[in-house]
Amino acid sequence: MSPNDEALSSKIAPRETGYGDGYQQSVDIECRALFGMTPDEMYRRQTGLVTDSIPVSLYGEEDLKDTPVLGGNFRSALDVKAKKLGHIKKAPTLRQRARKAGIELVGSCDLDLGPGKRVLDIASGEGDSSRYLSTTGADVVSRDLSGSLVKKAIERDLEIRNGVREGIGASLGDVTYNIGDMGDIGRSFDDDSEKFDVVSCMGRSFIYLLTRENYESALCEYFDLLNPGGKIVLQGRECVKGYDDISWSEETKTGFGVDPESGDSAIKDLDSGVDFVWRKGEEIINEEGVKISKASRYLRYPDGKIKELKVVDSDEYFSLQHLDKMADMLKKAGFVNVGLKAQELSRDGSDIMFALVAEKPKPKAVGKMSAGFGRRILNRLRR
Ligand SMILES: C[S@@+](CC[C@H](N)C(=O)[O-])C[C@H]1O[C@@H](n2cnc3c(N)ncnc32)[C@H](O)[C@@H]1O
Repeated sequence: MSPNDEALSSKIAPRETGYGDGYQQSVDIECRALFGMTPDEMYRRQTGLVTDSIPVSLYGEEDLKDTPVLGGNFRSALDVKAKKLGHIKKAPTLRQRARKAGIELVGSCDLDLGPGKRVLDIASGEGDSSRYLSTTGADVVSRDLSGSLVKKAIERDLEIRNGVREGIGASLGDVTYNIGDMGDIGRSFDDDSEKFDVVSCMGRSFIYLLTRENYESALCEYFDLLNPGGKIVLQGRECVKGYDDISWSEETKTGFGVDPESGDSAIKDLDSGVDFVWRKGEEIINEEGVKISKASRYLRYPDGKIKELKVVDSDEYFSLQHLDKMADMLKKAGFVNVGLKAQELSRDGSDIMFALVAEKPKPKAVGKMSAGFGRRILNRLRR
């Protein structure tokens, strides 16, 4: 089925997230400043590093140079910084973190995608990750909470397939876009017997579930949506470069400043004169020692007009520092063979893409595995 407006006739009413209106402009400014890339480039690169098989860009950009997969001796710059500040005695290696979490370091996520395979891409935004996954030939079902982003995804998809961008549309598998809440994804399907070979959540989107309880219940639901032997892949990012480290860049035409009175951080786009401002947000540390942050953002135009973007909630559960907690949640939901792939994302090595991949066991490996296993675990967790 090719995407059309009917895809929006979901049972779930369109609801906006902090990513709705103004998303493209804010992400564009932020990506150029933080990563030295356009958002298209960054999402392609992230998805490509996960699947190891994304062909040339859908948007006509040159292929990015390969960057190294990180090995066991790698130490995160955040940990190195924490050690310098005296917060920790020794910065652990990736191998030490993986061992503690009971996961394997892998060089590839081995999703085995191709024609005939079905992928559920969750929190898919404007559909970049979904389209890149579909370039493997797999059929992709795409879900995002934001109605305006789902609409945008459909428009962009049509543009590509209708040959506005010549020669690219031909390589795409089938993608269907619709609204869906990743915390209650089953509700966005008419047919509750839908099954997938891969469930993906790219672009670090998993963090917006925000609590351990939400993560655990969502993972149980994804487990039930997978075929036996199917894989889940959660892709994250470690921004080694904080806002404090961004300098004015001639190449990306972006610069950074902090308002001394409010403490708000602004990235300025030198070309358009638009400021992308993060208000200083609230931060709490929960009982598990995980940082939970809330911050609102706005765009300030050269004529002084302000466009408010909504509050974005995020947390640090899904980070290299808390690998053990994430691995624990995956295993509790029933997943096995949890692996971690980490690779440099940015050209200058200051940002890391990582992906946790895990498998739903095949029946013979677990004895009697029946439909509803994940839900039963979920009910047990809720008791
Ligand atoms: C950083 S974007 C990632 C886009 C996409 N995965 C990619 O890599 O191209 C984060 C996305 O998460 C979506 N999102 C946030 N909360 C969500 C929820 N509860 N359910 C579904 N999507 C959600 C936002 O609307 C936004 O599109």
